[in-house]
Amino acid sequence: MRLPTRHLLGIENLHPRDISALLDLAESYALLNRSGKTRRDVLRGRTLINLFFEDSTRTRTSFELAGKRLGADVINMSVSTSSVSKGETLLDTAATLNAMNCDLLVVRHKASGAPALLAQKVDAAVINAGDGMHEHPTQALLDALTIRRHKGTLAGLTIAICGDIAHSRVARSNILLLIAMGSQVRVVGPPTLIPSGIEQFGVSVFHDMREGLRDADIVMALRLQTERMSGGMIPSAREFFTFYGLDAAKLAFARPDALVMHPGPMNRGVEIDSQVADDTTRSVIREQVEMGVAVRMAVLDVLARTALRNA
Ligand code: ASP
Ligand code: CP
Repeated sequence: MRLPTRHLLGIENLHPRDISALLDLAESYALLNRSGKTRRDVLRGRTLINLFFEDSTRTRTSFELAGKRLGADVINMSVSTSSVSKGETLLDTAATLNAMNCDLLVVRHKASGAPALLAQKVDAAVINAGDGMHEHPTQALLDALTIRRHKGTLAGLTIAICGDIAHSRVARSNILLLIAMGSQVRVVGPPTLIPSGIEQFGVSVFHDMREGLRDADIVMALRLQTERMSGGMIPSAREFFTFYGLDAAKLAFARPDALVMHPGPMNRGVEIDSQVADDTTRSVIREQVEMGVAVRMAVLDVLARTALRNA
């Protein structure tokens, strides 16, 4: 398969056909990973640079693993010890990496649109690893793969995304993907954390967890993105947990076979209770991380075919 663009900047530009094909390829990488085999020919001779201006555990590590499993030379740039601290701009940093003939540039940045800006300036294929409140496309793909593995499909499922919708790029990418694939998406949270007009994306809005979770197939809890809040959005973390924290009592309103998801990192006792997060009969949070590697392998593989010099 090939994508319509040489970069992966968001879910927004992907056709449902592209999403399905990426998920199919990721599924085959998930099986390969479980078998302990690799495919080092796919990115042999290619260079992947991880350029993370925001902290990350899962995304950066899984892009590193994915690149290495496909045979790329992988470099993790430590932004805090780079010349960014001497005043070098994002664009000059990217141009410098470009001059070293980097093929794949994985970028996380606090500014929405930063990866799209870079994509106009560099020859490398740019992958958005999370930009401000905008998008986190590989997260939405790994979430979709996890759901599809359990439910067989995305179409027709009722998916409740709970908590801080307003500041979450995970919510935005998931909404775009799930609506495109025919899911019924609900967003559940306090009015201060749900952007006005979000219904235009095709989602239904709930402010009460019992109503929002009723008969849901999937319940996704999101961390409060306090790093992007100017303050005063919730009275206190304790109160937030009382009304919106995912615990067994609230989960009981969802279908008995509903899956619990969380993109991580979790703040236990704030948006999710440990009992629910660690219940392996319901929670697929660990599997989401596993699927992250497979999805990123699929994305790198496809971009190598779509975009790279001499591919
Ligand atoms: N790790 C995800 C992100 O970077 C979600 C989160 O941080 O809460 O968007
Ligand atoms: N889910 C996610 O993006 O996790 P990290 O911030 O740890 O990469």
